[in-house]
Amino acid sequence: MKQASHTLTAPAAVIVIFGAAGDLTKRKLLPALFNLASQKLLSSKVAMVGIDRVEMDSEAYRQNLNQEISSFVGKGFDQKLWDANVGRAYYMSGDFRNAESYKQLKEFLLEVDREQEAPGNYLFYLATPPSFFGVIATELGKAGLSQESDGQWRRIIIEKPFGRDLESARELNATLHRSFAEHQIYRIDHYLGKETVQNIMAYRFSNGTVEPIWNHRYIDNVQITVVESLGVEDRASYYEEAGALRDMIVNHLLAVLSVVGMEPPNSFSADAIRDEQIKVLRAIQPFDPQRVLSDAVRGQYGGGRMGKGDDVCAYRDEPGIAEDSPSETFVALKLMIDSWRWAGVPFYLRTGKRMPGRYSEVVIQYKHAPNMMFRGALERRKDIGSNQLVLRIQPNEGISMEFNAKVPGTAFNVSQVRMDFDYDDYFDESNTASGYETLIYDCLCGDATLFKRADNIEVCWELVQPILDVWKALPPRSFPNYASGSWGPEAADELLARDGNDWRVAK
Ligand code: BG6
Repeated sequence: MKQASHTLTAPAAVIVIFGAAGDLTKRKLLPALFNLASQKLLSSKVAMVGIDRVEMDSEAYRQNLNQEISSFVGKGFDQKLWDANVGRAYYMSGDFRNAESYKQLKEFLLEVDREQEAPGNYLFYLATPPSFFGVIATELGKAGLSQESDGQWRRIIIEKPFGRDLESARELNATLHRSFAEHQIYRIDHYLGKETVQNIMAYRFSNGTVEPIWNHRYIDNVQITVVESLGVEDRASYYEEAGALRDMIVNHLLAVLSVVGMEPPNSFSADAIRDEQIKVLRAIQPFDPQRVLSDAVRGQYGGGRMGKGDDVCAYRDEPGIAEDSPSETFVALKLMIDSWRWAGVPFYLRTGKRMPGRYSEVVIQYKHAPNMMFRGALERRKDIGSNQLVLRIQPNEGISMEFNAKVPGTAFNVSQVRMDFDYDDYFDESNTASGYETLIYDCLCGDATLFKRADNIEVCWELVQPILDVWKALPPRSFPNYASGSWGPEAADELLARDGNDWRVAK
């Protein structure tokens, strides 16, 4: 099978990771860098500088990495490749709030450039708690580390969460803009780095038969589900502050919606694509308090059994969680988009923890055929079913279409069948990528397509702000309202049942 791929080596640069001792660096960033190196997508002059509070020199840091890296990279780890590359990992201990650390960093980077014969391009990756985002950007600016000159670029990657409400997101954007220009800022949403999310664009815009029926004339509703079986794990203090609306909806689910709902861009350039995404986000009908009550459902998991497996405890019984915690671990929303394409088509979004499995998928529910001519079919219209296109983001990445076929035999019966495309069947690359590979590679290449612009972030917060306000003013009275291992609170089913719809049960 012929694959069109980009295999250009990314330009040389020093990647400076703030929060080098943290979980994200170990679990996602270093394995992603390793995977990029093994695919020969990194220049041999790319170096990495980890910076954190822990006192240690580069040698000790390398030894730590040597011990841990194979377990984090997992499948596909190649010791020889690692040994050949580990010499390009450096470490500097520093205090993110102390201006002195940034002066030292500047000197340190010059040394690394000299040692690696690197051209002086710097990518600053903020893998830190969000309270450091503003201060690190400001101090980098003050130290002159954000200034681009003589063809040397400076870029900054900001992790989520980007703000905790509209006001703080606006403030953070303003703070970043005081030190970095918008073209230097790369706001991560790792969902945009996922293969299947990008494939939605390929599917829509490189196939002549898809777009003509991608609209309100043929589509009844769209469902975007991102659920997982995990609970809060060891992130109690973050999650108590965040909840599912901030953790998942305002970023990942709206990002997926923008890819599904956007108009075809005029080119594949970052701004052409991002302009179309923001247009569809802006067209979502805003929530007023009344609509929050009718079209936004929140839930929190109680105890229960995960499949045939273990009994698990309620969210409120997890370590570090308040016994009367109001944090939601489940959200379902009904959104309407005021555009020519999507008039009258509900977009249902759902995310939750402690669900029966880990499924991320987009379901395009097509309308019924206009005339059911088959004998007796009118009464069985619901059974006959309409076409359903499922874009599976994870697991088992792929696309399937359900349609009706005649059941063999003398009687004329119709039944739903399924046509399936599995990534694994067509593409031989064993895809161990988390999404971070693409995002780091794109940032090194200066391609911002899969990153969020300031306006996108603010529009998403504008949309969810009324929900945050109403939920804060009216603390939940029925939490916990769904059992672990179930599909969430009944109200989430009722949200669709009111429109004569139901959630697709992921298979
Ligand atoms: C993160 C959230 O952004 O995304 C987590 O903070 C969630 O709560 C995770 O588990 C889901 O990502 P993925 O790639 O595992 O679907």
